[in-house]
Amino acid sequence: MSQVSEQQKVQPLKAPKGVAEYVPPQSSRFLAVRDALTRQAHLAGYQHIELPLFEDTNLFARGVGESTDVVTKEMYTFADRGDRSVTLRPEGTAGVVRAVIEHNLDRGQLPAKLVYSGPFFRYERPQAGRYRMFHSVGVEAIGIDDPALDAEVIALADRSYRSLGLSGFRLELTSLGDKDCRPQYRAKLQEFLNKLPLDEETRRRAEINPLRVLDDKRPEVREMTADAPLMIDHLSPACQEHFETLTGLLDDMGVAYTLNPRLVRGLDYYTKTCFEFVHDGLGAQSGIGGGGRYDGLLSILGGQDLSGVGFGLGLDRILLALDVEGVGFGNDRRVDIYGVALGAEAKQKMALIINQLRRTGVSADMSYGDRGLKGAMKGADRAQARYALVMGETELANSTVAVKDMLSHEQHTVALPNLVTHIRNLLK
Ligand code: HAM
Repeated sequence: MSQVSEQQKVQPLKAPKGVAEYVPPQSSRFLAVRDALTRQAHLAGYQHIELPLFEDTNLFARGVGESTDVVTKEMYTFADRGDRSVTLRPEGTAGVVRAVIEHNLDRGQLPAKLVYSGPFFRYERPQAGRYRMFHSVGVEAIGIDDPALDAEVIALADRSYRSLGLSGFRLELTSLGDKDCRPQYRAKLQEFLNKLPLDEETRRRAEINPLRVLDDKRPEVREMTADAPLMIDHLSPACQEHFETLTGLLDDMGVAYTLNPRLVRGLDYYTKTCFEFVHDGLGAQSGIGGGGRYDGLLSILGGQDLSGVGFGLGLDRILLALDVEGVGFGNDRRVDIYGVALGAEAKQKMALIINQLRRTGVSADMSYGDRGLKGAMKGADRAQARYALVMGETELANSTVAVKDMLSHEQHTVALPNLVTHIRNLLK
């Protein structure tokens, strides 16, 4: 028993504000969903890449864009003990491109196709579906500029959601042009915006990133920009062809999309294809994934002049979407076999049986401490075990075990020497 008096009692600490964490039993769903998503990427030939959670701050300043909210307001940046400025990764693409260049993957078989998953960090205002540490599964296909690859990546995201049983989402798609057509369009848009009676802050935004003004949700701004020129109508012939090939492929593959020429994403590196998956059951934080092509990112980060395309899927929001749609995904079973032994000697024997089952690859656990039959069987229930192995005085005396089917509640007796083979056959 604790010696600490009432006054000395320490307050339990809490997790930092706005982080998403997963504890049992929900954590098994987190793993199942993450693994199902990465599995779809593996099926399409993407290989795992594991990268640091922190990087040189310059990587994100250069890669994600100096004027983005992510870089100016949301980064977890600090000086390490060697006085280097490092940043917890706010997104995955810049790090992957950095690693591709550093490890010469861009000089091997192209495209380099990579998949990753893990936590990302953005100092945002926390709310439902928006966290300061969130989890994402991403892919990047780097080195080839081919609309067929854009279609592959988009179809992969679509298939990944569907493989979980999700259906209440839609895909929004547009093209942002490239270095040949975007500057001209940008000038045209600025000229249009300059004539409008915009407030000070919006005017400033129009100077830095005019496309973002088109994404303004306020009705009065919407109205004023209703006739604004749109990038999609000002694409160069090459970008136009790229986009038409992509949409043609998506049509043929049966991947539904809606064109949203006002689609703006919070990262600066996108060119040509840009997309977002939106789930309508999630309220304000409805983006369950998004991505696009990035022509200039490799060269900005000191690599060859090569293009890439990819996406990031928001694991936390996907889990929320599964709840909203009422889709049960994953298995809540903790172990297949749960041992219940009564008395010291039976418990010793059971520990050996459980150990042997684990050695042969069967998932197994047992009741510990001094529990009676009822309490110990509760453990089997909670573990959602398929079978309970019961050993009381009679079984001990006869060198047998009672095998209880936890679904049908039927019970049969098995001799100890045959037990492991018997259980393995039952679980086949
Ligand atoms: P992103 O759209 O910024 O893209 O993030 C990807 C997904 O992560 C979002 O669609 C959303 O579901 C989820 N997400 C983002 N921020 C939060 C947050 N604060 N809380 C919860 N979930 C969040 C990227 O990061 C790009 N790197 C995707 C990409 C890969 N583009 C090309 N390749």
